Amino acid sequence: MKKTYLLAPGPTPVPEKVNLDMAAPMIHHRTPQFSKIFAEAAEDAKILFQTKQDVMILASTGTGGMEGCITNLFSPGDKVLVVNGGKFGERWGKISETYGLVPVWLKVEWGQAANPADIKALLDKEPDIKAILIQASETSTTVAHPIEEISKLTRDRDDLLLVVDGITAVGVYNMPMDEWGIDAMITGSQKALQLPPGLALVALSDKAWKANESSKCPRFYFDFKKERKNLANQTTAYTPAVSLVTGLRSVLQSMKEEGMENVHKRHNRLARATRSAVKALGLKLVAPDAPADSATGLFVPESVDGGKLVKSLRDDFGVTLAGGQDDWKGKVVRIAHLGYVDTFDTILAIAALEMALKKFGHDVALGKGVAAAQEILLEAY
Ligand SMILES: Cc1ncc(COP(=O)(O)O)c(C=O)c1O
Repeated sequence: MKKTYLLAPGPTPVPEKVNLDMAAPMIHHRTPQFSKIFAEAAEDAKILFQTKQDVMILASTGTGGMEGCITNLFSPGDKVLVVNGGKFGERWGKISETYGLVPVWLKVEWGQAANPADIKALLDKEPDIKAILIQASETSTTVAHPIEEISKLTRDRDDLLLVVDGITAVGVYNMPMDEWGIDAMITGSQKALQLPPGLALVALSDKAWKANESSKCPRFYFDFKKERKNLANQTTAYTPAVSLVTGLRSVLQSMKEEGMENVHKRHNRLARATRSAVKALGLKLVAPDAPADSATGLFVPESVDGGKLVKSLRDDFGVTLAGGQDDWKGKVVRIAHLGYVDTFDTILAIAALEMALKKFGHDVALGKGVAAAQEILLEAY
């Protein structure tokens, strides 16, 4: 027998109750029954985003939400500052180029957070930059970029937008969209939202909606103006992902019951416990200075092939963690704290890591990481 455990930074486990809610018989989407579910989900999504703005619910993965932000806010030829400190920062630039925007790249060393002073220097040098495109949590490097600090550079300027990929940050950190003045924020269903992949949620500020009026990028499916008009009538422009929206309503109700502050605290506690375990095991964090609470990355010992380690964890131990990407392939393991993950999932991930490292010949004091994590995890009880 082998049980399996999913502790990668997306997709993440789905609670049993949510799976049951999503298994309800299909209903037609242009009906009062669906409109009620949709309207409740859209209303609660505002609590998640900490915004008064409409939150659009799109049948798409997170990347579709990112693409929609580019096509709905900008025009070909527009200059955008792209913070590129990992795979997803790079993706902002690639989408921008696809639509004829001109990325001004801010290269950030993998494992480091963007420095707001460097962003300011670039903005001063190129005053016609129209937006900063950034991740709140750069999942590939497990770094949290300092969004609140960066928002101070954009919030008082009418001609400069802050577009935040919050795909592994919304529902993880406190990121009050309206209070900080974030102009566009995106998340995806398969992360902190504890759902299968297939939904992107996007909200825009008034400033961003104004930019939408003059934006000339081609668009059809991801037309935010059309979505907002439909949202006012408690529906979507095209066939919504009915079951996922039903699941979204259920998850948001549970998150409300837990309290958003507690949801954030939970992610933080699991992340701190994991970081403490990594240190206790004498291993190095990949993002020691600005670690994200969404996932914890660590360098595997040089004597161990990280690719084989992650594969063995998955195939032999039944524990799915994530490896490293690009230059970090085979060198890094990432343990997620996202969504439906609790104390004992985290202990399990650390215990499995210790055992797998030992199996691969690394001298591990079994239980040392677990004990360090337990000290922190006990805070919850
Ligand atoms: C920070 C970040 N941005 C974008 C994406 C892409 O999202 P999707 O795979 O849902 O399109 C991911 C997925 O892992 C992510 O972590």
